[in-house]
Amino acid sequence: MRIDILTLFPEAVNAVLGEGILRIAREKGLVSYHLKNFRDHAKGVHQSVDDRPYGGGPGMVIKCEPVFAAVREVEKADPTPPHRVLLTPQGRVFNQKVARELAQKPRLLMLCGRYEGFDERIRQGFAWDEISIGDYVLSGGELGALVITDAVVRLIPGALGNEASSSDESFGQAGWLEYPHYTRPVEFEGMKVPQLLQSGHHAEIEKWRREQSRERTKQRRPDLLDG
Ligand code: ADE
Repeated sequence: MRIDILTLFPEAVNAVLGEGILRIAREKGLVSYHLKNFRDHAKGVHQSVDDRPYGGGPGMVIKCEPVFAAVREVEKADPTPPHRVLLTPQGRVFNQKVARELAQKPRLLMLCGRYEGFDERIRQGFAWDEISIGDYVLSGGELGALVITDAVVRLIPGALGNEASSSDESFGQAGWLEYPHYTRPVEFEGMKVPQLLQSGHHAEIEKWRREQSRERTKQRRPDLLDG
């Protein structure tokens, strides 16, 4: 998979891509990351990427020219047409189902905004999948793009050491929360690992984990059990 991220802060984004699973997936050749600062396409001595809104009002608006030029240039860099993602609180809300959907794409292009928002013609000029990472307002799309990248890349077969891990965990196969985990020591400050987990009875353990998973989901996120 190829991931292009258009941002005014490529160094900040790059720092996150350079650690953990995201870095390992790149090293394994499962994904490549391409960062583009769309300020490089801004004209004039000040290279402004934003301007005051027509009609007045607070804040600044991301200009068309640098974004159109950057999107076009980045798209030309590879013949694979990208699935374009616009990070915005106005988008559909990201979740594990959307992550699975995006993980099927050969190429993602994500555009991160700043300031009050995008000139509306940026929306009109390209086909975007507008995505919000939650019902709150961030100061830019970068954290959203990184959240999406992380959730998607770990779903690429081979990205995680153990293939079972991504289907076992919360929101995995059944869409339930994860069961409790324990590791050594068997007793810590008076708190013990449940006997059953030490018993080696795999079928029983499996059953216990399913029950725990369901109970946790019922307690904490009953909305996930509906349907
Ligand atoms: N940009 C600002 N807020 C955002 C959000 N909640 N999701 C995605 N992009 C954003």
